[in-house]
Amino acid sequence: AGRLDRAVAAFRAGEPVLIHDFADREGETDIVYPADAVAPADVARMRNDAGGLVCLALSDAVAEAVGLPFLEDALSHPATGDHDLAYDDRSSFSLPVNHRDTFTGITDEDRARTIGELASMADAVEAGVEYGPDEFAAEFRSPGHVHVLRGAPGGIADRVGHTELGLALAAEAGRPPAVVVCEMLDDGSGAALPPDAAREYARRHDVPYVEGSELVEALR
Ligand code: 5RP
Ligand code: ZN
Ligand code: CA
Ligand code: ZN
Repeated sequence: AGRLDRAVAAFRAGEPVLIHDFADREGETDIVYPADAVAPADVARMRNDAGGLVCLALSDAVAEAVGLPFLEDALSHPATGDHDLAYDDRSSFSLPVNHRDTFTGITDEDRARTIGELASMADAVEAGVEYGPDEFAAEFRSPGHVHVLRGAPGGIADRVGHTELGLALAAEAGRPPAVVVCEMLDDGSGAALPPDAAREYARRHDVPYVEGSELVEALR
């Protein structure tokens, strides 16, 4: 099977994939999971093997339904006024959250709990369950330790970050519109893990590796 088919099959089975975006964008490889499959050991893998920020991307429709805004729209501090990102038009960050049943929110157990509950919420909203900002607030608090990302309204037709690439893969695999992403960093240099090293990690751990360009070509 081709790289894309392997990635879709892994996601369908609840397993992670590596997604490298584009050399002329972030030039980062994220480990990406269907959110409903993330257990505490997966959070441990993300902080040990990946080392970046653990984030959970929701589709625009789900974020809209539960009132999760883009962070830059929710804050009035002047630092949020000028979005001069070097690699894209805007950030996909929404609010950082904890499930209310967590303690500090940062432990592997707590983050996996928050992630799992966000995944169930997304699944329910997608299925048409009546669930809005008040229901969300009854279950989650912000600030917290899982960074919610909000996908662009048009998905990969609008923006091709890991946020939208991961959500497009989830849709193709028939998973809920909630994916967890974490950047792979190089332990030696601290820089983004170079693509050849990411492919080597993928081979060693039998994790599918796919390029943003392949996802865009197949799924747009
Ligand atoms: C959050 C990020 C990551 O790059 C993540 O992949 C989401 O961002 P994007 O959709 O812009 O790629 O910065 O840690
Ligand atoms: Zn990044
Ligand atoms: Ca490490
Ligand atoms: Zn990214």
